[in-house]
This record gives sequence, C-alpha cells and structure tokens, in this order.
Amino acid sequence: MDFNVLFFNSIPVVIHLLVFSTDSDANCILPPELKNMEWIYNYTRPDDNQPVTTTLRFQNTILTSPSSINFNAFGTTIDAWTCISNLTLSNTESVVLFKSDSSYTSGPFSGNRRLYLCMKFTKVTDNLFYFYLLSDVDNTIVPNDRVFNPPANSIPADTDPLCSTFCQYSTEPKIRTLQKTGTIDVVPIDAALCTPCESPCEEQVVTCPDLAAVNFTTITNQTGTNDQDTITYACITGYELTSGSLTRQCMNDQTWSESVPVCEVVACPDLAVVNFTSITTQTGTNYQDTITYACINGYELTSGSQTRQCMADQTWSGSVPVCEIVACPGLAAVNFAKITAQTGTNYKDTITYACFTGYEPQYGTFLTRTCKADGTWNNHPPSCKKTHGRGYGCHCCRSHTSHRSRWSPKK
Ligand SMILES: *[C@@H]1O[C@H](CO)[C@@H](O)[C@H](O)[C@H]1NC(C)=O
Repeated sequence: MDFNVLFFNSIPVVIHLLVFSTDSDANCILPPELKNMEWIYNYTRPDDNQPVTTTLRFQNTILTSPSSINFNAFGTTIDAWTCISNLTLSNTESVVLFKSDSSYTSGPFSGNRRLYLCMKFTKVTDNLFYFYLLSDVDNTIVPNDRVFNPPANSIPADTDPLCSTFCQYSTEPKIRTLQKTGTIDVVPIDAALCTPCESPCEEQVVTCPDLAAVNFTTITNQTGTNDQDTITYACITGYELTSGSLTRQCMNDQTWSESVPVCEVVACPDLAVVNFTSITTQTGTNYQDTITYACINGYELTSGSQTRQCMADQTWSGSVPVCEIVACPGLAAVNFAKITAQTGTNYKDTITYACFTGYEPQYGTFLTRTCKADGTWNNHPPSCKKTHGRGYGCHCCRSHTSHRSRWSPKK
C-alpha cells in the first residue's frame, strides 16, 4: 500500500480510486454480534427528514459496499470504512469510529482527506441494535449526513481522542436501528442518546490488566480488576516494604495506581561482641539467620542463649549469652598437710600444699593442684606420710623407747 501511495502521489486524478487505508484494526473492537451480517437499517434522512430503510453490512472491522453508508465527497465515492478505534461503555454500549478507506481531494493541494463515522451502538438483543451518528450534518458531502469531515488543514491522527476529536456534535442526532431480517424485537421506549460519549450518564468499562505475582508478598484482598477495584498485598513474614505500594487501584486509564510493591527481607542489628565467647557459626543478619556462640575454654554458659535467631520484628531471639568462669569445688583438708598458697578456686587457680614437719609427700604425690576447665582439680589430694630414718621425732622416740625398754634397769 505504501508503494501505491508513493507511486500515485504524482497522479492525483487516480488517487481516490486506488488508495485504500492501511490503518491497523488492532485497536478497534466491533460488537461481535454485528459482524458478518446484513442488517435492515432504518433512519431518518437529515436533509429532508424522510424515513429510509436500507441495509448495512459489517465485516470483521469494516463496513462494506454495497450495503454501506455511502457518500460522494467532491467527486470521490466513499462507501467503505474501517473501524479505527472504539470505546466500550458497558456490556451493551460502545462507540465505534470508522474512517473512510478512500481519501478524497477538495481542490488542489488540499491534502489526503478522509471522512469519519462515529457510531454509538446500543445492543437491544442479538437481533436488534440501535445507534446514533455522533457528528453534525456536513453540508459539503452528498448526501448531507452526520459524517465528520475534518478541515483540510487539521487532519486528525487516528490516535487522537475519540470523543473530543471525532465524536462531537451540537445538534442532537436521531436514533437509527439495525434489525435482522425476519426478527421482531422492538426498540425500547426509553432508547435515547446519552450525550455525548463521555457524559456522566455513561461510563467506560475500565479493565486493568491482570497483575503478575509479586515476590515475597501475599494478596490479602482483591475486589476485582475493574474501575476503582483494589488489590492489597502484604509482605510475607520477615519481609518489609521498601518501595512501591501495598495497595493499588484500577484507574480510569486502565492502569493500576502506584507501583509494584517491593518487599525485602528484614535485617537485625549487628550484635555487640560478647565477653568470653567465640562465634562458632553465623549465617548472616537477616530474617531467620542464626548466630551461635561458644564460651571460651574455662567458661560456661550461665544465662542467656547460645544460639540466637533474627526474627521478623528485627530483633534477635533469646538474650545475650553470659559466660562465666568455671569454678572448682572447695577441697577438703589434707591430713598432715597445710596449704601454703591458694590463688582461688576458679579455672586456672592453684592450691599448693606442704606436708607437716616430720612428714613427707608419698612417692608420686603432687603438692600443687590446678582448677581445670571442666571444673575439677587436677591430680589427687596430696598424701603425706611420716618421715622414716633420719627424721627426728619418730625415729628417735621409737629407738629411745626400745632402748629404754631394752636397756633400762628394772626395779
Ligand atoms: C424499519 O422500517 C421498516 C419499514 O418502515 C419497518 O417495518 C420496521 O419495523 C422498522 N424497524 C425498526 C426496528 O424500527
């Protein structure tokens, strides 16, 4: 088609015969019941107010000759139209804009002009529709009818606003009916044009797209995907909103308000160094991460928690571990020995004994004991025995006694 446009641009006489619209129909939706069907079309002719009965045929997105709406625009026959945009007002109402497939020229250098038909349809039954042509009568086109004929110097873009650009009128149009042959449904008595296409008595059906699942969230409430409907998310446990919004609403422009919620894992504060402990494992500082302590050698947990976990409320479970120095039990007195030194009864403390005078440590005995990390004293209690032989007391005493018993004269 572009080729044709270029080729025939220099031959204006034939442009109107051969150049057809290449408009995409992707954005236009006709009421499906209308399609591929010939309808009995009743309307009142604007120029003489005479009732007319004729036929109309809609193909997929086009209104086609021979049963079409036909014009003669400055010598050009306009009898084929393509739907270029639509507005769905309700389940039964819609506005559909048709653009003429042919362009016409109203004099030299006047541009590539088209006509537009703005139809506001109401479906009564599958067999009966009525519509209004939402334009004022154009007296430069034959026949004079409600067709939008933009001035040559301000040709609209197809994407321009449907209601404010194409579907405007100042005098109220009359109802037109479309009826299937042989059917008897009747137009309701309250059939009237609700004016104009964006008036408060009509509301466009607003549908927002389905929303993709959002990581780390659950949907706590959703009223739907239509106008004003809301969707409410909650971050899952241990996650918090860092951007976006937890509540979004379907807006008039068919988009969701705000932006996708971003839920990120919560973090617990860094933990201070704990005396007399070492950290044996730590998975991190985020939700559900754990930190495990061990008391250093010679210390034992007396309160607090050995393992703490980062919780959803951003605090660490449990409490700070308290490691206290290991204590050994008090020691019973040792026979024939006295304590000569003692540093205490905790880990690494020592106690040192000495045998009494006249006593000596048994072979293999140790006179010093140390409190171990496991809370016991090393070594056995020292054992002191009387000194033999050269010891003063016993030896002398015993020999003296025996001497005397042996040598002392008896009375
Ligand atoms: C259309 O006009 C014909 C002829 O006047 C008439 O019989 C028919 O009932 C009309 N249809 C509607 C829906 O008004």
